[in-house]
This record gives sequence, C-alpha cells and structure tokens, in this order.
Amino acid sequence: MIGTVPRWEPCRDAIRIAPSLLAADFGRLSEAVHALDGSGAERLHIDVMDGVFVPNFTFGSDTVRALRSETKLPLELHLMIVEPDRHLRTFAEAGADAITVHWEACPQLHRTLTAIRALDCRAGAAINPSTPAVALTDVLEACDLALVMTIDPGFGGQRLIERTLVKVHEVRAEIERQKLATEVEVDGGVDTGTARACVEAGADVLVAGTAVFHHRDGPAAGVSALQSALGDTIAGA
Ligand code: DX5
Ligand code: ZN
Repeated sequence: MIGTVPRWEPCRDAIRIAPSLLAADFGRLSEAVHALDGSGAERLHIDVMDGVFVPNFTFGSDTVRALRSETKLPLELHLMIVEPDRHLRTFAEAGADAITVHWEACPQLHRTLTAIRALDCRAGAAINPSTPAVALTDVLEACDLALVMTIDPGFGGQRLIERTLVKVHEVRAEIERQKLATEVEVDGGVDTGTARACVEAGADVLVAGTAVFHHRDGPAAGVSALQSALGDTIAGA
C-alpha cells in the first residue's frame, strides 16, 4: 500500500522529530527528557489521555508543568480527551507551546483552534484513522499543525496503518493548494522502517515513542536512527 501513495517531493526545510513521552519510563520522566539533550529532537510530544476519548490515562497539567521546568524543548500537547475546550487555558498556563485537539472531540473545531492561538499556543488539529482528510480542509488556515494519526490513538507500540499515508498526502496537497505553512505531523508506528514513507507521503513532523525511548542505545540514538533512516530524503530537504 505504501508504494501506491503519491510521492511528496521533500522540499521542506527539514524534517522534525518529536519524541513521544508515552514510551518513556513514567517513573523516570525527568531522566527521559534529559536523555534527549543534544539529540536533534526538535520538540517534546506529550500525550494527554482521559480514559474516555481513548481507553487509557496518562499525563495531566501538573506533569506538563513539571516537565516545563526540566527542558527547553517546545512542549507539544496531544489532547486525546473529550471537551478539550474546558482545559485549554490550564494546559497553556502549565507551559504548553502547542496544543493539538481531535476533530472527533470538537463540535466547533474552528472555535477551539482560534481559542488555542489566543492563548499564544500553536494550534493543532488531529484526525483518527477512520476520519477522512477532508475533515480538516476548512480549518487548515486556523491550524499550525495538522496531525494525521497513523494508528488508532490510545497506546504506543502499534503498527502503522498504511492506508493512513494516503491521507497524509491528501492533507499535504490541500495545504499546498491553499498556500499555507501548516505542518503535517504523523503519529503512531513511526520507526526506522516507516519514517521515510511518512515523509515521502508529505509529513514534515514525525512523532515517535517506541522508536526513540525503547532504542537499545537510548533515546538520542533512537532519534539519530530515525534521521539516518530518512537518508536522501532529509539530505535533499
Ligand atoms: C498514541 C500516541 C502516540 C504514541 C505513539 O495515541 O498519540 O504519540 O506515543 O507511539 P509509538 O511511536 O510507539 O507508535
Ligand atoms: Zn500522540
């Protein structure tokens, strides 16, 4: 299936790697974050889950605040929660640099994205694998980040659903058509075997949990391995 996705010419300035803390040792989050120092990771991806939108629980705003004092990396929050509007200010004040909400959780997505920007955060909109790319078309100009989930959200360590790469290309094409600077991010199952296909489909931000934090030589080696896997793609950017 990956072979049938139209190839995106990777002329972006650079591809960004966003390690996801979901795969880190929750008892040693501080160490996990410091292990990324100097790794080339461009931002820290923090998955917030409420046990309702997805069948799992993770971090809250107090954890975000604690992480804020541990790293200079931008903190990108991926809210997998219902009614995210109720919590935007709390997360912004805890130190979020970017907040991504799900299309499936936001009946007035444009309003939510506008509210995120009003809090001086970059605004992201995410779609699940079962949601078509066109769901984002009318909010792309209100987005700094379009997140195409490449797994069903809730857990790390899953296999990338190849069909979702078609949507990565569709979202990228629509961003180009509208002449926007919105980033295209992929999240789920990104590893050294799939990273290049994601970039060639149109992604410029790669979220990676397992591939970074479970790398046998540590998180920095995980980031480096992903960059190497991009090979000519990143060299030609
Ligand atoms: C899952 C999260 C992802 C997760 C990805 O719902 O949104 O950010 O950490 O994990 P890997 O990279 O292990 O697939
Ligand atoms: Zn995520």
